[in-house]
Amino acid sequence: MRHLITTDDLGLDEIETLFKDAESYLQAPPPKLLQNRLVITLFFENSTRTRSSFEIAAKKLGADVVHLDVARSSTKKGETLYDTAANLNAMGPDAIVVRHAQSGTPYQISRHVNCAIFNAGDGAHAHPSQALLDLFTIRRHFKGDLEGKRIAIVGDIKNSRVANSNIRLLPRFGLKITLVAPPHFLPRTDLETTTRLKDVIDDVDIIMSLRTQTERHAQPIYASLKDYASDYCITKERIGDRNIMLMHPGPVHRNIDIDDAMLSDPRCKVLEQVKNGVAVRMAALKKLILANG
Ligand code: NCD
Repeated sequence: MRHLITTDDLGLDEIETLFKDAESYLQAPPPKLLQNRLVITLFFENSTRTRSSFEIAAKKLGADVVHLDVARSSTKKGETLYDTAANLNAMGPDAIVVRHAQSGTPYQISRHVNCAIFNAGDGAHAHPSQALLDLFTIRRHFKGDLEGKRIAIVGDIKNSRVANSNIRLLPRFGLKITLVAPPHFLPRTDLETTTRLKDVIDDVDIIMSLRTQTERHAQPIYASLKDYASDYCITKERIGDRNIMLMHPGPVHRNIDIDDAMLSDPRCKVLEQVKNGVAVRMAALKKLILANG
């Protein structure tokens, strides 16, 4: 049974095929390859983009989609997560898309079901479909030429599953990563790190800004988000006229992560990421569901 728990679940060739499919879905109406297939979305944490992106992706390929409203489900009545998963599994889905605040939950669920599990974000651990859509967006932007391209990942890296998945995935495709964050947001790492944006701004091709993951902080970590912004907000003033591709997985803290001017600047690819996300998730759903028979 194939699952997408981390980006390591896919080989380089498989990612190439996935991207070829995603590209074709951007070019022409997709074939209904998942007709009569059932995809369940099971989100224990908030989501705007990821859930709708997976649901739209599944529907565009002809699948039926059911969303389990966790707030009204039996986990609220004391049913364990595994019993919930086993019960959903008994309804015969082809895939369950899971988001959970606790790292490892999608992996645990994958051991109790016989359908594909898609990790749509587990705690600070991983968010593989986001990293895949980020890589896809970068590759399209640079027309496939990634060797030696430099990316600065900026912000709450330690608590970000988006950063953690990108840190695993992007170097496999030749990208060089620098982590830019205050010391308490930096993970233990072998990657190049700095606390100052200005150290790297002249050397990078891409900046990936991240949201401060306040929901994962046991106590307030920065005096205020405004103080954080004064050091790390991606402003037009800081970027100047440099040719830098600007990314963010969303949701953006406006004028904290990125300022108004840069959000409406053509160098900002946030909505491009969202658009590509549907195509990449279509390709991932197709691959795993059809691989599982
Ligand atoms: C991210 C997430 O939920 O991990 N959002 C997303 O999926 N696009 C990032 C975040 O919440 O900051």
